[in-house]
Amino acid sequence: MSRQLVQKMWEQHVFDSVLLEEDMSEYHVPFDRITGKTQTEARLRDAVAKFERVSLTGVPGCGKTSVARYSLEPAPARIAPIWVPVAYKDEGVTTSPKAFAQYLVDVISADAAAAQRIPKKDREAILAHATSDINLPTVARRNAGGLKLMRWLIEADVARDVTRTIEGGKLPRSEQEIFGLADGVLGAIRAYNLNPVLVMDDTDRFVGRGNPDRVIPAFFGEVLRAVVERLHAGIVVAAHPLYLERKDYRRLSSGLIEQHIRIPKIPHLDGLAAILTARVRFASTRRTANDAFAEGALEELFDIYSGLNEKSIRAVLATAHAALARAQEALAPAISADHVKAGADDALLT
Ligand SMILES: Nc1ncnc2c1ncn2[C@@H]1O[C@H](COP(=O)(O)OP(=O)(O)OP(=O)(O)O)[C@@H](O)[C@H]1O
Ligand SMILES: [Mg+2]
Repeated sequence: MSRQLVQKMWEQHVFDSVLLEEDMSEYHVPFDRITGKTQTEARLRDAVAKFERVSLTGVPGCGKTSVARYSLEPAPARIAPIWVPVAYKDEGVTTSPKAFAQYLVDVISADAAAAQRIPKKDREAILAHATSDINLPTVARRNAGGLKLMRWLIEADVARDVTRTIEGGKLPRSEQEIFGLADGVLGAIRAYNLNPVLVMDDTDRFVGRGNPDRVIPAFFGEVLRAVVERLHAGIVVAAHPLYLERKDYRRLSSGLIEQHIRIPKIPHLDGLAAILTARVRFASTRRTANDAFAEGALEELFDIYSGLNEKSIRAVLATAHAALARAQEALAPAISADHVKAGADDALLT
């Protein structure tokens, strides 16, 4: 325990859960390691490698995006993950196959353009890491900008060929033409012996926004069916546990989604400590959560997590962040159980 560690953690915002998504995989502690099973990250990688269509189900903040990013970045061999954010697009994209296909083309087109704008020097720095399992250094990642580590896209001439495919033909107008173009783009990627996987990891957010009774059946019905039938790509989608209680979701998704992966709860204190340690390390590589938290504080935090209706890691991190603010304000040598209790109030958890 040391005053210095608390100070440093505070300066680095180590528990801040609103960090860049691109950084998530660096903090990720695999649920497979926490639970001692191979039901989460290993299963996702496995399914994606087999080109299967997968759902990731869990409450908001439980770690779906973190699992997807960790498992797919760096991408497993010959897999080309394409991140397709849909939740905050207008309803057309999530309810109309044609609008979705057009949006998909736009997303890949923008990524390909960004890939071609990366200066040669940075491109080489990024590719130098392509064969290893380590994550990119921060600078290279920043340079990759909006690319979100789509390293496969800066390999060889994939991006150029994608752009050519999009710009080469006549402007598609009908639904059939747009799907033709979208699959042509995926074909340009497959020509490099890469398997495209569409990652829509925010499709759990239809709950509580807009018109879920319209969007959920439309997306997991018509849109997904059209994608499955007309596009050659693997699929990863996120699902809210409430979807599983819906007859329409179960019926519509049953033939379309081949693997259902549920994000597990953190089963024990050690699991939570490991997640916090991964972040403490950003302040000091030799310290762990046990150095940062005083006697009883981690137990308090785990109790709060266990008491949550929705087991959200985001909520636990928000509490830890607020507790750290308290400890810093008090110039304390570590985060105490009382800081955690007060932090939970600050984070509006109790
Ligand atoms: N296994 C883990 N190891 C380390 N950090 C994790 C882990 N799981 C989740 N987190 C952290 O918890 C926070 C919430 O995770 P994430 O954003 O992945 O949740 P989500 O299920 O995608 O939520 P939403 O449904 O709102 O998109 C993030 O800050 C993430 O870094
Ligand atoms: Mg998410």
